[in-house]
Amino acid sequence: MSVAPAIQTDDLVDIGSIDEVPRRGARCVTSGEMRIAIFRTHDDQFFALEDKCPHKAGPLSQGIVHDGCVTCPLHNWVISLRSGEAQGADEGATRTFSVQVRGDRLLLDMAELTS
Ligand code: FES
Repeated sequence: MSVAPAIQTDDLVDIGSIDEVPRRGARCVTSGEMRIAIFRTHDDQFFALEDKCPHKAGPLSQGIVHDGCVTCPLHNWVISLRSGEAQGADEGATRTFSVQVRGDRLLLDMAELTS
């Protein structure tokens, strides 16, 4: 899905309903060349990360969400959803973005995408 502004407040762009993101899962939006994975935890917290593992660019959106992290489907690195940082002995970080919930809508901060 492309990021098409339905509701726009300053730099926040409506990227869809919370119901479009499965619990313990993710869905992706794109902005230009970048794929952004929107994750939803079991307790309905939402996080936005570039859909690119810091190891070898695996698709984090296809990983398993657990304990505030996602496990990359390629080589099982564990990435923090909050910081984007690899956990344990692994090093590196994936870019993170601000996502807000307003009612049942998800708003992504587009200013961070262009900075
Ligand atoms: S690409 Fe993600 S762990 Fe290797």
